[in-house]
Amino acid sequence: MQTQKLTAEKVKDKVVAIRVDFNVPLKNGKVSENTRIVESIPTLKFLIEHGAKRIHILSHLGRPKGINDPQLSLALVLPELEKQLGETVEFRGDFTPGKSMIQLHENVRFYDGEKKNDPAFIQQLLKLEAEVFINDGFAVSHRGHASVIGLASYLPAYPGFLLQKEIDHLSPFLSEKKIKGLTVVVGGAKIETKVKVLEHFSKTADNILVGGALANTFLAAQGHNVGASFYEDDQMEVAKRILKTADANGTTIHLPVDVTSGEAMDSENTLTVTLNEVSDDMRLFDIGPKTIKNYQAVLNQSQIIIWNGPLGCFEYPAFEAGTKNILKTIAALKSSQTILGGGDTLDALKKFGVSKAAFTHVSTGGGAMLEFLEGKELPGIEVLKS
Ligand code: 3PG
Repeated sequence: MQTQKLTAEKVKDKVVAIRVDFNVPLKNGKVSENTRIVESIPTLKFLIEHGAKRIHILSHLGRPKGINDPQLSLALVLPELEKQLGETVEFRGDFTPGKSMIQLHENVRFYDGEKKNDPAFIQQLLKLEAEVFINDGFAVSHRGHASVIGLASYLPAYPGFLLQKEIDHLSPFLSEKKIKGLTVVVGGAKIETKVKVLEHFSKTADNILVGGALANTFLAAQGHNVGASFYEDDQMEVAKRILKTADANGTTIHLPVDVTSGEAMDSENTLTVTLNEVSDDMRLFDIGPKTIKNYQAVLNQSQIIIWNGPLGCFEYPAFEAGTKNILKTIAALKSSQTILGGGDTLDALKKFGVSKAAFTHVSTGGGAMLEFLEGKELPGIEVLKS
């Protein structure tokens, strides 16, 4: 079943509750990366331009565990929202309606009932007197929380334009068939969170390029020494299984052939070595220059690229080369379809001054993007279909 489309007549003269994901990084109490806010603006503008009576914006910020934490108040996000929207927005500390046309409410996760999808908390949200519900929080759509799915059981519910755009861009990759020219770049710390997506693409992609600490687990599974680096001992069998599946399906999993190591992530002294030169005390924090070249060669031959997760500890200058060079290589590929996602990946874009416009699609989802791509039904999307 399909979701219904959001149209002007569905919102005209109506009180609208919209779930967005303003879970954005903050630095010194200010928004430091604003993609999720920027991407939510088209739906908000549409509601304003098509005569919604009142707009109630709902979001979470961080993981406050049901308590009021001033450092995770959505009031911190308000100035950036007003700047991007070009409108004054009233901040409400609770879920009662205020007087203004556009209202941003406090962090829904300050309440225990949010995560539990508690009927009593849904009743509290219904006090906003919304007549229509819109989910535009793709990045939180893998959570069956009250503000994501609860209101949709009581009100006519539609996807916002951000959510629809994510579905349109990511759906083609759910295919179980081989997708010619597809290269998937996977980094980050843990295989555990990416097993299903790796299993899926080990059947359908042509190539998978692996980086980050995740690569250590694959390397260890192949019997390489990863020194004193982080790797997941309990995921070695999983890594072996993924390598086997890839092999059986004609998918090449590319692993680092050289690595950059240091005593700690903030070390200035680094050592780049080939895999068989790794010693027991080394800690590997980035892919090495030969690996970067190998990965660039694969990317230059690819028609479609999907990337989730950094390839090294790019927050530290000594270990930024892998993520930076691969990001710039993908950004320069004009004729390929390029899709990026994951919070860290967005931070990397900002850090290295790479424009989002250089990519076909920059997903706002981290976990949600992975779960969507692995073929899981996301509760926040499914509820819009019923
Ligand atoms: C995210 O940043 O991935 C989303 O906002 C969801 O956050 P959560 O993992 O705390 O539910």
